[in-house]
Amino acid sequence: MSETRGVSTIQDPSNEAAADVPDSLCVTVVGAGHVGLVTAATLASMGHEVRALDADAEKIRSLEAGTPWFFEPGLEELVRRGMDEGRLTFTTEGAIALAGADIVFVCVGTPARENGDANLLAVEAATVDIARHARGRLVIVEKSTVPAGTSTRIRQTVARERPDLIDQIEVVSNPEFLREGSAVEDSLMPERILIGAESEVGLQMMRRLYASLLERGVPLIETDIVTAELAKHACNAFLALKISYMNALARVCERAGADVVSIGEVMGSDARIGPHFLSAGLGFGGFCFPKDLVAFERLAESLGYEFSLLREVTRINDEVIAVTREKIREALWNLEGKRIALLGLSFKPDTDDVRFSPALKLASTLLAEGAHVVGCDPEASHAAKEEVDGLEIAPDAYEAARGAHCVVLCTEWEEFTRLDLNRLRESTAYPVFVDGRNVFDPLAMTEAGFAYIPTGRPLPKV
Ligand code: UGA
Repeated sequence: MSETRGVSTIQDPSNEAAADVPDSLCVTVVGAGHVGLVTAATLASMGHEVRALDADAEKIRSLEAGTPWFFEPGLEELVRRGMDEGRLTFTTEGAIALAGADIVFVCVGTPARENGDANLLAVEAATVDIARHARGRLVIVEKSTVPAGTSTRIRQTVARERPDLIDQIEVVSNPEFLREGSAVEDSLMPERILIGAESEVGLQMMRRLYASLLERGVPLIETDIVTAELAKHACNAFLALKISYMNALARVCERAGADVVSIGEVMGSDARIGPHFLSAGLGFGGFCFPKDLVAFERLAESLGYEFSLLREVTRINDEVIAVTREKIREALWNLEGKRIALLGLSFKPDTDDVRFSPALKLASTLLAEGAHVVGCDPEASHAAKEEVDGLEIAPDAYEAARGAHCVVLCTEWEEFTRLDLNRLRESTAYPVFVDGRNVFDPLAMTEAGFAYIPTGRPLPKV
């Protein structure tokens, strides 16, 4: 079974392989992070019995008290419901988590090595753990984003650890498409489910696992494993490419006096392009796009293809920070000693995740230039302070802007879009406002008395 099998939402009830799979499955999720915890809580809400395993005792303690260790809208409620209904438990013990599991999800981190390759040490360790505790028939699901070919490594590792069980263990790829900030929504009603499998048994188990979603019409795309693995990298890289395209376009718009937001609307109304991920600004961050782009490029290189387009996507994204710093310098002359307020510190709204956050990259650049940087964020202040030495934290936007020579909107949290602009301007020393996400109406900003600097947009003629 190696070719794409297409999209289907239909289960075949007469299929014998499906018939002996129980309705409610016993699922173990290895890694209770942003992907693993959401996956665990969602599967529990579908009626499965789920055990989440994580080596970090502190995280497990917090989860046992019903409190996710990171902020994700709707997650705490889902976790608590799963626990109250007795379907979701947490442990640090592999033996407890894995005993009697039908399906094990590998949701451990795959960070970048220094050379950009995905570091798969945690995937290997999880596989060894799973193999050692396996008691019989089992499906191992790759959920973490991994390079194409990882399933072969997983199978080899299982074969080495448990030659006695290798015929009973299936490896399946089921990449996640969750966005932080809307991960719960995305997993309760995904746009599609992708399953890469090499055998009918693995496929049938996964169809049964997701039966409730398939019944609600969620499309299922079934492929071979390597296609599924590659598809995840392909999606993330393409989304990042759209963003970098718009940022490069913003640079051209700034020189030509054109409006990147209007061009985005024109482009987005073409169904072949689509309206999403066309926002120019401070660029993409987070734990996925930056590392996945490089890992994908490295994978292509290892296969003998130079995917230089991906390098350019990263270059344009990096350039955005320097461009923004230069805009601030242009407005303020010297940066040394200037007070700069950053609104939003997380890599995107509705999360406390600051990994590879453009706001923090900008903060570090400005601090290195001798500026005094004050940030605020509804959820990510604490994490940001830990991450960037010298970053001062203010409780809200008005306090951050107090005495500031420049205010920069870095992350488009809802609450910033409702700011009292006059009050904000009155707090500042100089009314300079750099809109790193094109959130504000240029006319309203100008009327409020700001020297408004948008991204890739001309200023209104007043
Ligand atoms: C991304 C993908 O969107 C998910 O489908 C995928 O499952 C996930 O990575 C992953 O691999 O785990 P995520 O990183 O949570 O999800 O966030 P996105 O909503 O994709 O945003 C990524 C970055 O792009 C953010 O910094 C955001 O501000 C930026 N962005 C997004 C733009 O700069 N412009 C846009 O038009 C859209």
